[in-house]
Amino acid sequence: MNLTIKKGAVLKLKTPCLVIGVFEGKLKGDLLQQLDQGIDRALSRAVKSKEFSGRKGESLLFHVGRKLVAERVLLWGLGKEKGYDLRALRQAASAIAKLLADKQLGSFMFALPQTPTKKITLDGKVQAAAEGFLLADYRYERYLPQDRAGRPAQLDKVALLIDDKESKSVAESAVRKAEAIASGVCFARDLVNAPGNEKSPEFLAMQAIGMAEKLGIKATLLNRKKLEQQGFGAMLGVAQGSKRDPYLIVLEYRGGTGDEKPIALVGKGVVFDAGGISLKPSEGMDEMKMDMGGAAAVFGTIMAVAGLKLPINLVAVVPAVENMPSGTAIRPGDILTSLSGKTIEVLNTDAEGRLILADALTFVGRFEPRVVIDVATLTGAVIIGLGNQAAAVLGNHDGLIRQLIKAGERSGERLWQLPLWGEYAEQIKSDFADVKNVGGRPAGTITAAAFLQKFADDYTWAHLDIAGMAWEGKGKAGQPKGGTGYGVRLLTEYLCGMSQ
Ligand code: BES
Ligand code: MN
Ligand code: ZN
Repeated sequence: MNLTIKKGAVLKLKTPCLVIGVFEGKLKGDLLQQLDQGIDRALSRAVKSKEFSGRKGESLLFHVGRKLVAERVLLWGLGKEKGYDLRALRQAASAIAKLLADKQLGSFMFALPQTPTKKITLDGKVQAAAEGFLLADYRYERYLPQDRAGRPAQLDKVALLIDDKESKSVAESAVRKAEAIASGVCFARDLVNAPGNEKSPEFLAMQAIGMAEKLGIKATLLNRKKLEQQGFGAMLGVAQGSKRDPYLIVLEYRGGTGDEKPIALVGKGVVFDAGGISLKPSEGMDEMKMDMGGAAAVFGTIMAVAGLKLPINLVAVVPAVENMPSGTAIRPGDILTSLSGKTIEVLNTDAEGRLILADALTFVGRFEPRVVIDVATLTGAVIIGLGNQAAAVLGNHDGLIRQLIKAGERSGERLWQLPLWGEYAEQIKSDFADVKNVGGRPAGTITAAAFLQKFADDYTWAHLDIAGMAWEGKGKAGQPKGGTGYGVRLLTEYLCGMSQ
């Protein structure tokens, strides 16, 4: 898709379709007045006959003959002006893209709505709309024929129309930013959508290395032998049930000064989570190919950051394994010695994410990071608590948590904090080892984080449990069924803030 910024008089714009957002009951404003006059008051008549009123998601598409230079006009209802925000704009852009692509209209021009509030800046507006279009254009069609009947059009030429008084260069750099972020999100979605038969830990490693090589990011792999030599006992314990070799994947982006301590991202990379000997029920098990959603988010973020050339140093660490039941798998009751030296009693082999993260969190300490953020599809409990609207954030530093929540609001990828009071650690005390890997039913998301904290308390750390966010089960505008790439927009926004 070719995304550009345009200025100009509405009656003279050449485009297959001119898209105009209208607030509910607000058919005033220069643009709409000009347009209405240009098309013999067709707009006023449509409003009068109650065909269109600007209610959220409402649309009216019509040909305009030779009245305008544009061939068609799409009026799009933005809903109430009060409370309108970038989240709504991003969603509107995605919904518009879907409607037009379904009608095989891949090229159009979108007049950015003029909003009275000062809170909405030009760059924010352009970025949100551009992200809405770019993300709506995503498909995973690797295993589908290209010439399917009824296939919606891919977006081709999309222009964003800004006001004459607004700065074109500010708007253009916001488009570049949206493009870098969207490529990271789409890379993450592709990784999550890849089926388990294709997606071995090695596949994940090769995808990460391929991306890193293109962008000049340093990549290192630790294979099974190296992991054994160095004592990654918890990670190897999970991996031992699978025929596929585990890998620790390390990417290092250096955009900052040489001596600057890096920010570190750690992503859970379970390419398929069958549960191990504590086998999961078969219903819905197919979705467990998404158990590397944290890894995907971390890779997508480093890709976006490199695309934006942010002046920071960033490290990404991903433990990649497969959790399978077999004659060589770990058993409930087994005790593993982690890289940190701490021993772990494994009471449920399906609580494997925290085991591999324990070793990854210990390992990442070697980089002397100023901040560590881990991202993981860690617990089903977070879906019970928050559903599919927000990821949980927990950690040992309130300032970091606050910054992440803010970045979540700005990017549209929401976070909600859960407490991590010391008392919760009582639930993971073991009779036979330093810690056990399950804490019972109450507060499952928190006790998982309390477990991680035992391996992350030497540095400033936050944990994001994205189990409810990494996968879209139904599909909606801007987000087809499948991997979401959740975390890329949030983390990139956080890192943009850190680099200022
Ligand atoms: N990968 C799952 C968590 C998950 C559940 C992710 C649903 C996405 C959707 C994780 O490894 C897991 O199995 N967690 C267990 C932990 C329990 C055994 C303590 C869970 O949440 O049931
Ligand atoms: Mn599991
Ligand atoms: Zn898992």
